[in-house]
Amino acid sequence: MNEEGNKPGQSPEEETMDTRSTAVTRRQFLIGAGAGLVVGAAATAGLQALQPAKPVEQAKPAPPVQQPAQPAPATAIVEPVSGAKLVKLNVNGLDYSLAIEPQTTLIEVLKRDLGLTGTKLGCNGSMCSACTVLVDGVAQNSCSLLAIRESGKKIVTVEGLEQGGKLHPVQEAFWTQMGYQCGFCTPGQIMRAVELLNKTKNPTDAQIMAHMSGNMCKCGAYPNILKAVQAAAKQMA
Ligand code: FES
Ligand code: FES
Repeated sequence: MNEEGNKPGQSPEEETMDTRSTAVTRRQFLIGAGAGLVVGAAATAGLQALQPAKPVEQAKPAPPVQQPAQPAPATAIVEPVSGAKLVKLNVNGLDYSLAIEPQTTLIEVLKRDLGLTGTKLGCNGSMCSACTVLVDGVAQNSCSLLAIRESGKKIVTVEGLEQGGKLHPVQEAFWTQMGYQCGFCTPGQIMRAVELLNKTKNPTDAQIMAHMSGNMCKCGAYPNILKAVQAAAKQMA
């Protein structure tokens, strides 16, 4: 190179032209590179477009609601007990011979087999005495007596108190003194009072209340029940 920076034997004009051609080449290169960048970006975008779409995240199904444990179906099967026995009962003065299964209660025989529906079934567990009948003169909860064990005994239900179309004095007194509200407990109350007055003439109020205390009345008709038994006691004395 000479002092002016030119190649040996190169004139300044030639150098300028050489520089221009280099500049054009660099510009062209830059343009090309820019286009390449654009093409590259487009290609990248195209490639991205060609990429399999990411699976849309599916909402996870809610975990199943824990159901409360279902009670096991009742499996207790009451097997019919074969082996009915012949039972003789005297009910309200009539004799009956009945084939009765050993598990049958007295109230079932009265209501279902004999159609005496006056006796009421309340708790079916010897707690309310709505089912009271007389067995050989003694007031008993007929829901808790096995009928086959009462064979040969005399049973009196509320239907058996009336004589010749005339109410028993205890029935009459419950009627006149309004010794009831709904009347569900009334047959049992009457039978219990008959037992008392058959044994005890002119009972005191304390005796009446003590004797009747096992007969529940959901209506709370106790004051009038007491009045009815007092009135019947006077009548029967
Ligand atoms: S039904 Fe018999 S005692 Fe209640
Ligand atoms: S009158 Fe209703 S339960 Fe006694």
